[in-house]
Amino acid sequence: YKVEWDIVTAEKAGYDHFMLKEIYEQPKAYRDTMGSRISADHKQIVLEEVQMTKEQIQDIHNIHIVACGTAYHAGLVGKTVIESLARIPVETDVASEYRYRNPIITPNTLVIVVSQSGETADTLAALREAKRCGARVLAITNVVGSSVAREADDVIVTWAGPEIAVASTKAYTSQLIAFYLLGLYLAQTLETQEAGAIADVIQALEKLPEQVEAILAEAEVVRDYAERISKHEHLFFIGRGLDFNVAQEGSLKLKEISYIHSEAYAAGELKHGTLALIEEGTPVIALATQEMLFEKTVSNIKEVAARGASVMGLAIEGDDELKKSVDELFTIPKTLPLLTPALSVVPLQLLSYYASLARGNDVDKPRNLAKSVTVE
Ligand code: G6P
Repeated sequence: YKVEWDIVTAEKAGYDHFMLKEIYEQPKAYRDTMGSRISADHKQIVLEEVQMTKEQIQDIHNIHIVACGTAYHAGLVGKTVIESLARIPVETDVASEYRYRNPIITPNTLVIVVSQSGETADTLAALREAKRCGARVLAITNVVGSSVAREADDVIVTWAGPEIAVASTKAYTSQLIAFYLLGLYLAQTLETQEAGAIADVIQALEKLPEQVEAILAEAEVVRDYAERISKHEHLFFIGRGLDFNVAQEGSLKLKEISYIHSEAYAAGELKHGTLALIEEGTPVIALATQEMLFEKTVSNIKEVAARGASVMGLAIEGDDELKKSVDELFTIPKTLPLLTPALSVVPLQLLSYYASLARGNDVDKPRNLAKSVTVE
């Protein structure tokens, strides 16, 4: 009896693809990224790697988050996180556009660059431009010693571990964790939130890894739906607020590896044009995890359902009201509205994985794409 093996199979640790392995590594990536950055009493954030003084933080007038691809989508969530917690105005830009729009960067601007690899050419060029304008640059990266890490003033490393699959999963979610930590850190320094409120967010953050485990245990439900959508050529993701940002990431993931054309739309904007594309049977994936926006999103779901869409809803456990308006319902455990992206994206990652698999694509190495893009 001869055991056949090769190094790649060994590295996949029993999973069929790196992407699936990396999806399942997320609870660990969350724990490692939070790691020692939460104080022993679970009430404060400790970010020793951020060397900005209290005065420097007080002097921040605005923040620009700059990144490409999936990291840009993490930056969209980062904007809401920092604005909600620290009350500093934030803009998020695609790195390949940022430099060319003559952005207003001053020494009181904090520029946050987000890059899994730390080597993306456009992101690196944006970092250099920001520094040239006198801004302080903070990098969120997964690679210690990368170009971005070396050139930034402050670095928050995401401890996701090596990410091999071209479609980013655990790097994105650990970037979200980094934004939560940073948002809380800025809030605690600027005293924009009560100590009790900060402790509540920390407590909810620490629950995320086991909540992701609970979602992963339900992967088969997503698989069935993925097999159905794999037969379609077009579909839509809709959501409001943070749900819209997660919809954007879900749509990108699906396009990258399943080659199904999809668009993410702010649910309330649909009726201003895109609704014309909904036909009998068009799949629509509707995220409705934001308490405050729930009723509004439900009415948008009814709009598409009335035009024949086949809707998969994604909601918080217990929000059974949605069941009446959708064909399929997938629920995620309850957390704070601000933290839902770290949970709601996981079923969408599984959805693209299984849709890609059903179509017989090369999941880990999609056509035309590269893991790291070092040309502008
Ligand atoms: C490539 C990858 C994407 C990634 C983007 C930015 O396009 O295929 O998955 O999001 O680059 O990469 P970075 O390493 O800067 O996060």
